[in-house]
Amino acid sequence: ISKIAVLTSGGDAPGMNSCIRAVVRTAIYNNLQVSGIKQGYQGMIDNDMYDMDPRSVSNILSLGGTILKTARCMAFHTDEGMEIAYQNLKKQGIEGLVVIGGDGTFTGALRFSKKYPDIAVIGVPGTIDNDLYGSTYTLGFDTATNTVIDAIDKIRDTADAHDRLFFIEVMGRDSGAIALRAGISCGAEAIMLPEKATAIDDLISSLKDGELNKKSSSIVIVAEGDKNGGVYDIAQTVKKEVTNYDIKVTILGHLQRGGSPSAFDRILGSRLGFAAVNALIAGESQKMVGLQANTIVLTSLEEALNQHEFKLEEDLLLMADVLSI
Ligand code: F6P
Repeated sequence: ISKIAVLTSGGDAPGMNSCIRAVVRTAIYNNLQVSGIKQGYQGMIDNDMYDMDPRSVSNILSLGGTILKTARCMAFHTDEGMEIAYQNLKKQGIEGLVVIGGDGTFTGALRFSKKYPDIAVIGVPGTIDNDLYGSTYTLGFDTATNTVIDAIDKIRDTADAHDRLFFIEVMGRDSGAIALRAGISCGAEAIMLPEKATAIDDLISSLKDGELNKKSSSIVIVAEGDKNGGVYDIAQTVKKEVTNYDIKVTILGHLQRGGSPSAFDRILGSRLGFAAVNALIAGESQKMVGLQANTIVLTSLEEALNQHEFKLEEDLLLMADVLSI
């Protein structure tokens, strides 16, 4: 293998830049040429790529977002789109690809690499949602969770000052990972997740218990994908029954995706990028690099996608319930 390329695709995640840096520098250290593809798979179709050198990735460790930009590309799901992308890679002499993203990114990567096996593909789990099988942590999850904690701590101050009940929506279309970790870290009175429906009656009775137990404020964290109809609906329903508190709703939104990556994500991005290039050099393809028990592990993309459904950490949820009485 003599030339590889790197792209970021899907939702951005803090730490992607540290991974790009590691890919570029590990490649060049090993005498490979490396191209940066802009806007994910869209750049493959548009032939929007450029040669990178060690200085193209200087001073990016501390930056959120991704210097390569990212996109969700519908055209890449079509045979025509894939063929154009393949021809562009061939013209550039690219024999290996590192794709940094989530399950949508890996689905595209696997299809592409099955169709065109002469281009090796290695996936790096990059999503704040922490919902990929094969890695205990995904890139960006730690930073996003810390961002959420910082915001909720601030909300707790004002909630407590006014004796208010806050419903706070956090990201996670299909994943309650951020909600659960942030809920434990901020002492949320309740955590509502897509993986386990909370009955509104149970929520109401636990908030009423909180009133009886003289809680001055309460925080309910609702993951975006919760199945109870959305944070505003839940707040409306609860308002009819829990009358002692003034009720407010906050949606944290995309601020959760930005910001300077934590030490954990910078190191994780560096390790995964380094491992991805070494995997390509070793002749691997259709695999994902991940971290398990502090060790880099390769999992086939097929398995990562098949086992994808997020395993709810029931023990943590139970603990959060106990600790919030
Ligand atoms: O990156 C994953 C994620 O944050 C999901 O939790 C969320 O639903 C989604 O991205 C929203 O992304 P966008 O609004 O950029 O499409």
